[in-house]
Amino acid sequence: MINSVAAPQARGKSAEDKIFGANNRATALAVQLGNDRVINGTVGAILDEEGQLVMLEAVQKAYRELTPRDMVAYAPIQGYEDYLTAVAAQCFGQSRPAGYIRACATAGGSGALHHVIHNYSQWGDEIISSDWHWGAYDSMCKDNGRSLRCFSLINKEGTFDFEDFQTQVKAVFEEQENTVIIMNSPANNPTGFALTATDWDRVLAFLEGLLQGSKKNIILVPDVAYLDYSGEKEECRRFFTKFGNLPERLFVIVAYTCSKGFTMYGQRMGAMICVTPNERLADEFVAINQYSSRATWSNSNSAAMKVMSHICQDPVQLRSLEKERQQYFDLIRERADIFMNEADRCDLKYLPYVSGFFITVPMDNTQAVCDYLEKQNIFLVPLRKGIRVAVCSISKNKLKGLAEKIKVAAETVGARYL
Ligand SMILES: Cc1ncc(COP(=O)(O)O)c(C=O)c1O
Repeated sequence: MINSVAAPQARGKSAEDKIFGANNRATALAVQLGNDRVINGTVGAILDEEGQLVMLEAVQKAYRELTPRDMVAYAPIQGYEDYLTAVAAQCFGQSRPAGYIRACATAGGSGALHHVIHNYSQWGDEIISSDWHWGAYDSMCKDNGRSLRCFSLINKEGTFDFEDFQTQVKAVFEEQENTVIIMNSPANNPTGFALTATDWDRVLAFLEGLLQGSKKNIILVPDVAYLDYSGEKEECRRFFTKFGNLPERLFVIVAYTCSKGFTMYGQRMGAMICVTPNERLADEFVAINQYSSRATWSNSNSAAMKVMSHICQDPVQLRSLEKERQQYFDLIRERADIFMNEADRCDLKYLPYVSGFFITVPMDNTQAVCDYLEKQNIFLVPLRKGIRVAVCSISKNKLKGLAEKIKVAAETVGARYL
């Protein structure tokens, strides 16, 4: 029997994602034993205190009110105009940067990242991101014949590692025509870390300096998947204004998604939004990315776009959505505080968390630690250099005592802090 009929570049790819794998095991066990006996801290979705997946009320209402046409029509490839307008408004809030801003609908934030990699780097290129990053970045790069090169996100002082950022960016900038930098901030997955306003200033000043007199390009991609759970609404968006009036070779593409902020994870709806002082580059952005949408998933999900834009066009619904979202943001904050307070008390180290869905405990031997915890019906995600705890999905009750259990598990299997 032969083992593969796949083309050479596709051989050996394997689909099971560690996160969804652990989630599947946790879900199956919860069906068997009952929800209250299983701790599922794997997936990046908000679960309420009863362990149920949250779908915001305003989103439920908007879905119920869709017409058949809203639901099933083929949408324009770029996305409905009202959706694209709503996306920019929701993303930037009062901090809309100066310049040409254009958006293209994508299949979640993933679609935006895919198109950036596909259209703004070449085969064989390195893409830059931080060492603490969402695992899908690696697959997206590899599947497109690129590779990920990482800078250290957090230095020994627990602040942004600007030194290493400069080193890695310089190295790639010297070699490649385009340098694509994916910066998942605020509410970084998996750490909850965020760049400060000063960090952003230094990053932008450095990139502008590199570009001076150069004919190369830098594509800066803020991945803001968790933006809506990262702080006070306008405050956490202030950094966006810094993207106005940058040099034209410093092209900004924001990866936006409705997955988290609108609890529409499975609807696969997002957008890529460019910010540039050059209208031609904005036109090119729409043309090439629309082309790639046509060449991959074609039109985006009509119902999802209509739901999002209908909510945003109705001030009452939007206020109601923001109010409910705020309650979940507060809940996640409370859960994170429980975990961090207990971790402090039992001397369990964790990476500097500002906000977001996840906290990470940096250590080695993470698979063994997670295997040990699984025997106690606790499901967490083993990363290469740490264990990710999804505070978005674990109830306050279940979080109590978890830090201690991780600590004991680490000691039992002989894992060391990194
Ligand atoms: C860092 C990061 N970026 C982007 C996304 C986008 O996800 P989606 O494609 O579901 O919108 C996620 C989702 O988990 C994420 O964690």
